Amino acid sequence: MTEVAVSKTPEPATDERAATGLQELDGMLEGGFLSGSLVTLTGRPGTGKTIFGSHFLHHGAKKGKQAGMYVSMLESEKSYLHNMRRLGLDFEPLMAQKRFSFLELPAPTSEGLPALWEQIAREIDENETERLVIDSFTAMSPAFQTVGDLRTFTHVLLGKIVGGASGCTTLLITEEGTGTLGGFPWTGVEEFVADGVIKFSIVPAGEARVRYIEITKMRGTNHQMGPIPIDIGPRGIRIVHPHVRGNPV
Ligand SMILES: Nc1ncnc2c1ncn2[C@@H]1O[C@H](COP(=O)(O)OP(=O)(O)O)[C@@H](O)[C@H]1O
Ligand SMILES: [Mg+2]
Repeated sequence: MTEVAVSKTPEPATDERAATGLQELDGMLEGGFLSGSLVTLTGRPGTGKTIFGSHFLHHGAKKGKQAGMYVSMLESEKSYLHNMRRLGLDFEPLMAQKRFSFLELPAPTSEGLPALWEQIAREIDENETERLVIDSFTAMSPAFQTVGDLRTFTHVLLGKIVGGASGCTTLLITEEGTGTLGGFPWTGVEEFVADGVIKFSIVPAGEARVRYIEITKMRGTNHQMGPIPIDIGPRGIRIVHPHVRGNPV
């Protein structure tokens, strides 16, 4: 794919990669996400975004010994830990080793937004977080009245949290079909500032439904193009090799 460098946001300072936790996907991404980059995961509810983010944090904490933090506005810590354990992603031992933390936050109002970001930034400092997942950006949408609000927010996000050698590699989840901006449907503006975008979908295939992910943007990376079939099973997400399923992609 041709690389198009249009970024005005801080470029990740190194070529270091943060493995995604899905080995086959890493092979399609030159080893993973660029360390310190911001990647959005977007798709309708139920398409696998939360599980994907969890693979990323679990792998980082377990294999790379990188502290991860999951910021959730959608789910309680108890329910999250339970659901992930059922998929073979056991975070409790990692919590005990201070390699994982869960921050449960209410959806903010516009007045509450700065304090919320201060809190996230403080927790990142305290926990020496290197991998961050925010679930979800669209749950914060009532706090944004205008595109200007959103711009300010993304600057704070990029300036304080993401980017550069010391920044966290951050996955920002957006729920397609939800969220508003000043009373209008959410348009995915965050995809313009993000370094990468992965789209999650479920599409009909005859009687069945097939899950896909697609890397539609990944700055500085020679990546796979086109839909990548996935499965979600008892061990979480698995990349399905196209010829295994007999599904031309
Ligand atoms: N143990 C499991 N076995 C098979 N599929 C599962 C299992 N747990 C969850 N899923 C599938 O994963 C979906 C939820 O994935 P999730 O990452 O939470 O979606 P999203 O965050 O995009 O809303 C469920 O709707 C279900 O289809
Ligand atoms: Mg989710």
